Amino acid sequence: MNRPYQLPDHSAERNRLGSVLRKDYAMNEDLRYLGLGKKYYIRTYGCQANVRDSETLSGMFERMGFLEANTIEEADVALFNTCAVRRAAEEHVLGEIGSLKPLKQKHPEKIFALCGCMAQEEEMVSRIAKQYRQIDLLFGTHNLWRFPELLEEAMNGRRTIEVESQGTGSVVEGMPVKRSRSHKAFINIMYGCDKFCTYCIVPYTRGKERSREAEYIIREINEVKALGAKEVTLLGQNVNAYGKDLGEKDGFTKLLRAAAETGIERIRFYTSHPRDYSETTIDAMREYQNIMPSLHLPVQSGSDEILKKMNRGYTIGRFYELYERMKEKIPGITFTTDLIVGFPTETNEQFEETLKLADTCRFDSAFTFVYSPREGTPAANMEDDISPKEKKERLAVLNERIGKYARMNNEAALGKTLKVLCDGPSRKNPSVLAGYSEENRLVNFTGEGIREGDIVDVKITDAKSFSLDGEAVTSSK
Ligand code: SAH
Ligand code: SF4
Ligand code: F3S
Repeated sequence: MNRPYQLPDHSAERNRLGSVLRKDYAMNEDLRYLGLGKKYYIRTYGCQANVRDSETLSGMFERMGFLEANTIEEADVALFNTCAVRRAAEEHVLGEIGSLKPLKQKHPEKIFALCGCMAQEEEMVSRIAKQYRQIDLLFGTHNLWRFPELLEEAMNGRRTIEVESQGTGSVVEGMPVKRSRSHKAFINIMYGCDKFCTYCIVPYTRGKERSREAEYIIREINEVKALGAKEVTLLGQNVNAYGKDLGEKDGFTKLLRAAAETGIERIRFYTSHPRDYSETTIDAMREYQNIMPSLHLPVQSGSDEILKKMNRGYTIGRFYELYERMKEKIPGITFTTDLIVGFPTETNEQFEETLKLADTCRFDSAFTFVYSPREGTPAANMEDDISPKEKKERLAVLNERIGKYARMNNEAALGKTLKVLCDGPSRKNPSVLAGYSEENRLVNFTGEGIREGDIVDVKITDAKSFSLDGEAVTSSK
């Protein structure tokens, strides 16, 4: 049986007419036993926002009595937490859920669920509703807090689709959480995005910019610190806009200072936006030793005309200014960015400007993407006159340039001793340890008696484009 449902509505989401729901979480006691004797599996795609949401969903599953399964086949409930930022990511998920069909036919009692950003896309929801009948439960990013009750409906045999279509969203405090690691924690500071870059689906899938009250954020940092976390990453699509919706001025810098005052060893934040970046944030980074000297500041393009068409709200001149002040005020800071090639109408000259930007800023690394049209966004209606072949070529040229500077910057670390927070054995080679330096450089290293969560001095002996090799000198903590 199907329960009636609404589709997401991208034009309504643009207006953001509803009000933000703020509440404390409470789970219905009756749901505490829903998962007894059952197992769950979550597969997560996309950015840190999704990783953190999956930690909440795991926490909810376990509060309902479910145990974690190692595979989809073993699970009674399998949940796909999806990303919609580029078409390739979506196609991958559609392939995966498509291949669930035989398993569902064999075991109709199994529940397959899909959430995350694909579940907030207008076209996608109707497509999944019609063509992917093996999905029993689909819920959007704004309905995360309702997951246990929605799951109960689906387990009772009602196909359940639940999205919110105003795009205003909620801020729900006190949800359960099962963190994937104890030495590092993601802390949401705000949800949503109001920037509406013309190519981007995130403002539609994640809704309005809404900040958590600072008190809850600081409490969460203190909690994870008490449980042994050495590092927190403050999360938001544009952390620099933190507090604006609460009527606060300079909210992000104030929050950053308060976070630093908790005494946690390492603080990072992700992602920044050049438009809202304030001088006071640079000062706070300089002042507090526990705010790490690395910055991810997505620039997207080196051309002012393209930036304008992207609705980014700054010029390359402004970006350079920020870059220079950062480098001047915070010695040794590493700088990374995101770049898109092949935005509609991007000329070869404009692409060259992006290369010039890479030459000037010599980024420590960059995420580079070929522009992917997203239905419902303004750029999807712009004339896209660049061939796929040309786009691919531009990406290859840019990647080579980015790789060159990444390696040069890493080589400059040769012979130095960096402080590395150990993440445990390297995923690629379990006979060595891996971790990140204060500057956020990936370091693979050898050493005795070092455990996950230790901060160690590592002498750098070799440099590659995207990682360093080294030997632990002492165990400093
Ligand atoms: N809020 C962050 C980014 C979130 S999406 C910010 O503004 O910095 C992560 C990255 O994906 C973006 O920085 C952008 O480079 C890329 N991206 C977003 N939409 C895209 C699209 N339609 N095609 C290709 N890349 C895209
Ligand atoms: Fe997307 Fe732009 Fe918002 Fe980043 S700032 S999430 S790129 S709309
Ligand atoms: Fe993807 Fe949604 Fe994050 S679209 S990048 S999972 S906010």
